[in-house]
Amino acid sequence: MARLPIVGGNWKMNTTRAEARALLGGLRALDGLAGVEVVICPPAPWLGDAADLLAGTTLRVGAQNVHWEPKGAFTGEVAAPMLAGTATYAIVGHSERRHVFHEKPTETNRKLRAVVEAGLRPILAIGERLAEAEAGRTEEVLRRQLTQAFRGFRALPESLVVAYEPVWAIGTGRAATPEDAQARCALVRAILAERFGRAAAEACRIQYGGSVTAQNIEGLAAQPDIDGALVGGASLDAAAFAAICRAVATAG
Ligand code: 13P
Repeated sequence: MARLPIVGGNWKMNTTRAEARALLGGLRALDGLAGVEVVICPPAPWLGDAADLLAGTTLRVGAQNVHWEPKGAFTGEVAAPMLAGTATYAIVGHSERRHVFHEKPTETNRKLRAVVEAGLRPILAIGERLAEAEAGRTEEVLRRQLTQAFRGFRALPESLVVAYEPVWAIGTGRAATPEDAQARCALVRAILAERFGRAAAEACRIQYGGSVTAQNIEGLAAQPDIDGALVGGASLDAAAFAAICRAVATAG
């Protein structure tokens, strides 16, 4: 079964409301693009704007983070059920959540469950840090992150997307080579197959993320186990992001 590639634009903590609305307007040009699913993940305050401005298009909206509880006294947090109807996807376990905000693996696991329970589609981000890569520990790290994230899961949620994002490649301008990214994404698929069976793993979409640009996407998208990209910096430029989406659409 062919997997439909998916490109996510993770805006992180960028854009004023006016900038966000202008960017969303520009991205509407991607409506109807065949061969790729496009997901826009703006900052939480602009999720409603994104849902309104992208309504009726094929573009989907995603949240960058959620809290694991459905409601309660958690000042400043956003619950997964609040996003239903506005967002389709939610990123869980992004490296900035893990390393800047010290999100624990148990919290990533709880967030993943909350997202699935709310009927949202998770984009589970995993990836090794530079020191781990240099110490030859990448496989161990990916295995551990996946094991911890899926604790208590009996099956792989059908809609789940994995984003393999080596931390050393994020925001550094130093993307993984297509060969290395392919090897890691194939490894992720093999780990998923061990845990959930071959069919589920083969159906799961695995993105590469980390300094993806319109210039380097072609080589990455041509790899058999890379099913699109999670894009940070380049997703803030409508033309660059559109070029990435188009390259992924034609690579399939
Ligand atoms: P950059 O594309 O800016 O390296 O960010 C990648 C990322 O973290 C996407 O989630």
